[in-house]
Order: sequence, then C-alpha cells, then structure tokens
Amino acid sequence: MSAGLPEINAALLQKRIDELALITEAPPPAVTRVLFSDADLRGRDYVAGLCRSAGLSLRVDAVGNMFARWAGSAPEIPAVATGSHTDAIPNAGKYDGVVGVLGGLAAIEALQEAGFQPMRSIELVVFTAEEPTRFGIGCLGSRMLAGAIALEKIRGLRDADNTTLEALRGRAGLDEALESVALPEGFYSAFVELHIEQGPILEKEHIPIGVVQAIAGPSAYRVRITGEGGHAGAVLMPWRHDASLAAAELALAVEKAALASGSPDTGATTGKWEIFPNAINSVPCEALLEIDLRDTCLETRERALTLMRSASDEIAARRGVKVVWDEINADPPADGDAKTMAMAEDVAGKLDLATMRMVSRAYHDSLFMARVCPTTMIFIPCRHGFSHRPEEFSDPAHIAAGARVLAGTLARLSHEP
Ligand code: GLV
Ligand code: MN
Ligand code: MN
Repeated sequence: MSAGLPEINAALLQKRIDELALITEAPPPAVTRVLFSDADLRGRDYVAGLCRSAGLSLRVDAVGNMFARWAGSAPEIPAVATGSHTDAIPNAGKYDGVVGVLGGLAAIEALQEAGFQPMRSIELVVFTAEEPTRFGIGCLGSRMLAGAIALEKIRGLRDADNTTLEALRGRAGLDEALESVALPEGFYSAFVELHIEQGPILEKEHIPIGVVQAIAGPSAYRVRITGEGGHAGAVLMPWRHDASLAAAELALAVEKAALASGSPDTGATTGKWEIFPNAINSVPCEALLEIDLRDTCLETRERALTLMRSASDEIAARRGVKVVWDEINADPPADGDAKTMAMAEDVAGKLDLATMRMVSRAYHDSLFMARVCPTTMIFIPCRHGFSHRPEEFSDPAHIAAGARVLAGTLARLSHEP
C-alpha cells in the first residue's frame, strides 16, 4: 500500500473486463448489451456474482438498478457511492461504463485487502440503461433514482417492437412499485464515477487522470416528417413532397445551428433515421428522425434549438410537408462538487499522477447523481478518444491508476464526518 493507498490488481481487473465483453449480442470484439436483453441480464449476473464473492450485500430496485454495499462502522449515516453502467449501445466497445463498474469493484476489493475499515458504507451502483438504445431516453436508472422523471412517462415507454418497459421489467422478475426507486433525500453523502474519457484530450496531453468539473446537458427530440408518397417513376419532380429530402435538409440545418453557436461545447447529431416505405421505387412519404443536442450552457443550447426549429418551419413550408417535433428529454448540465474534485486531485497527487479538470460532453449517470449528492467523475485516457465503437481501448495501467485514485477518494469520503 504505497503512499498509504491500496494497490489495484490490474491483471484481474482486465481479465474481468475481457470476460464481461464476451457477454454480448454482437460478435466480439463488438459489444452490444441492450437493456433487458439476454446479454444485459447475463452481464448483470456476472457482476452480481463478483460482488457476492467480495462479500458485498446486494439489492436490486424495481427498475433493475443494482446496489452492492460494503457496510461501514456507521451504517446508519449516508453511504458513499461509486458505479456506472454495463449496458452497451449496438456495436460498442468493452470499456464504456464497465470501467466504472468493475473498476469500482476493484477499488473496493483493494481497500478490503489493505485492511481498510470504512466508516460510511461504500456502495457500488450498477445503473439500469445509461444508454438510450431501447427506449430513446438515456440514464433511465439514475434519472429515476434522482426522481427526475414522471412515473407516468416511465409507464408509457415502449420500444421499437411496442413492448413496454413495464412488461420487460416484469419478465426480469422486477415487480416492485416504481415509486420505490427514487432515493430518499440524503441517501448518499457523495458519488464518484470512474469512466473512460471518450475523447482524445487526456491521451494528447499525456495526463492519466481527468477530474470532471461539468457535464453537458443533453436534450433529445423525435421529429416526424409527413410528406406525400407515390411512384418513383410517375410522380413528377416539381410536384413531389418527399419526406426523406425534407429530413436531409433538416439534418444539415441541425449541423449548421450547432456550428453557429461558436462554442466547442455545443454538439448536435441526427443519429437515427427511419424512412417509410423505404423502397427504391417509392417516393418516401414519412421520415422519423432523432436529434441529440447538448451543451454545457443552457442558453447556447436554446439558441441552437431555436435556429433548428425555424429552419424546420421554413423547410416544411417550402416543401409542403408536415414536421412535428416531440421533446424526449431536455436535461440541465451538472457541475462537479468542488470538495470532491479537490479530494480526487489530492489522492492523484499522492500517487504522482498528473490531473486536469475536464468538461464531459458525453452524459453519464453522474449527471443525475449530481442531483442526489455531491458528485464528480474520474476520467482516464482512451486510445484516439474512440468510444461507442469496437475499437474502444484503454491501457490496463491507466484503468488501474483510475481505480486507485477512486479507491483513495472513496476511502477519504468514507471517513468524512
Ligand atoms: C452516453 O453514452 C452519451 O450518449 O453521452
Ligand atoms: Mn455510452
Ligand atoms: Mn458510459
């Protein structure tokens, strides 16, 4: 235990990351674990087994968030928490979320092996559906823990096959009332999430640890464009109301609006498209787009949205199509907690690990945990900043360093009066 901080078993941690990566719906090296799919459920079981072996007590809430607790000497006061997610978007890599879950467990095990006695309990949380793949809304589990979504909205969620979240959680044996998910006030004293950066900055700067001071606020919109279909040979070009071309113009307007903000923190993506009837010799009569718009500054995000909406009105009028926007979510950004950030930096300093403060343009469960308790994130480098693709890679030494900083930070937080 050099510098008074426990060592991480980097080889074991890597072995577990590799094992979990083999539980996937997509052929390796791609990882796909969509909410409540067989792979998602088996992935959770894998982590639950490891947590049990570490002597942690397990609880699973009504939406599938899993809590693995190492009881402290003062179990009656708020616990310290860490964690992340194991669900993975289609064709993802093996580190996103997983580093925070298995790295969090490795941090707890390292503290156990070093003979550390927690005062506040330390809890590892595996959040349900950080990714929006199945129901279009991200951070489902942490959003519900923070009480940041109406339960009516949850009950109305349906996936692309029209299956409700309610049916899926029933099949997974989760039959408690949804009302029980939101955490009571003061449940945790602090939350720290370990995560790969998902961007190139730490690698470029040769800095092993990022400390997250802000997380961009995400928003998402579903846009339905209704035009007029017909025969691709017979409908004359000047008379067309092609929904797909209106969608294409709108996607370009979305890009233009984000670029016009002048801020590197504004990001807009039209990542999901459905065209109906999707046949080569038929003029598309309907298009369904999903637009992801994020910013660390709400005013800038609003300005970009206003530009997109007015472009949408102009396209609709000019092309004679109907465009209907529905907001899926519009979440405010979150700030890192100053004291927790300073603590993580101090721990890293004791380990001779350089740090830098960072903005997370990706969202994380920490976005919602910041509403529950003081929160920060520890970022580690990932090769070329690649994420959400099978080439995602983090050096085992960087993962272990991040887990070590996490262990030291959890230890201090656990003894905070
Ligand atoms: C989370 O994966 C995000 O889209 O930021
Ligand atoms: Mn992700
Ligand atoms: Mn993630």
